[in-house]
Amino acid sequence: MVEKHLLVSRIEKGTVIDHIPAGRALAVLKLLGITGREGYRVALVMNVESGRLGKKDIVKIEGVYVDEEHAKKIALVAPEATLNRIENYVVVSKKKLEPPEELEGTLTCTNPTCITRKPREPVTPRFYRVRGKKLRYQCIYCSTIISEEEIVRQLAGEHV
Ligand code: CTP
Ligand code: ZN
Repeated sequence: MVEKHLLVSRIEKGTVIDHIPAGRALAVLKLLGITGREGYRVALVMNVESGRLGKKDIVKIEGVYVDEEHAKKIALVAPEATLNRIENYVVVSKKKLEPPEELEGTLTCTNPTCITRKPREPVTPRFYRVRGKKLRYQCIYCSTIISEEEIVRQLAGEHV
């Protein structure tokens, strides 16, 4: 396949997280715990043209594969992303990430008086996904809505 604008070279083995919403690449790296000091070769591509999203970011990490737990979190900050596993320069698996309809744990309810935040006998937080353009979850206990910005803040510790 010919790519018109190949900003960074293809990788030999590792992970390519493609179709990240523009501006979210750093949040993805952050939730993976990658600081750049680990020694992996990491490529960030930001604000490149994408048919589906308008603009997108791409993260390539050489020699690292992403586990289920992290894939789940990536889906919450990059709901349209694809997770590509590369071996010998070939995409050996491609997974379209999808934020789940229900979430158990992972996020914290923002309502300080929610039953899930009781200091003594805390209940595991549970949320339902709210339909709509932006990603939002609603606490099943107190109905508080967790916004997309809040999700990114909680998982990546930064503003969108
Ligand atoms: N890629 C890479 N190194 C490789 C193979 C692929 O960095 N050895 C990157 C590509 O540049 C692309 C992503 O991994 O960003 C997915 O590759 P591929 O499936 O070949 O691209 P598309 O068909 O465009 O993917 P999609 O259908 O998911 O948009
Ligand atoms: Zn709540």
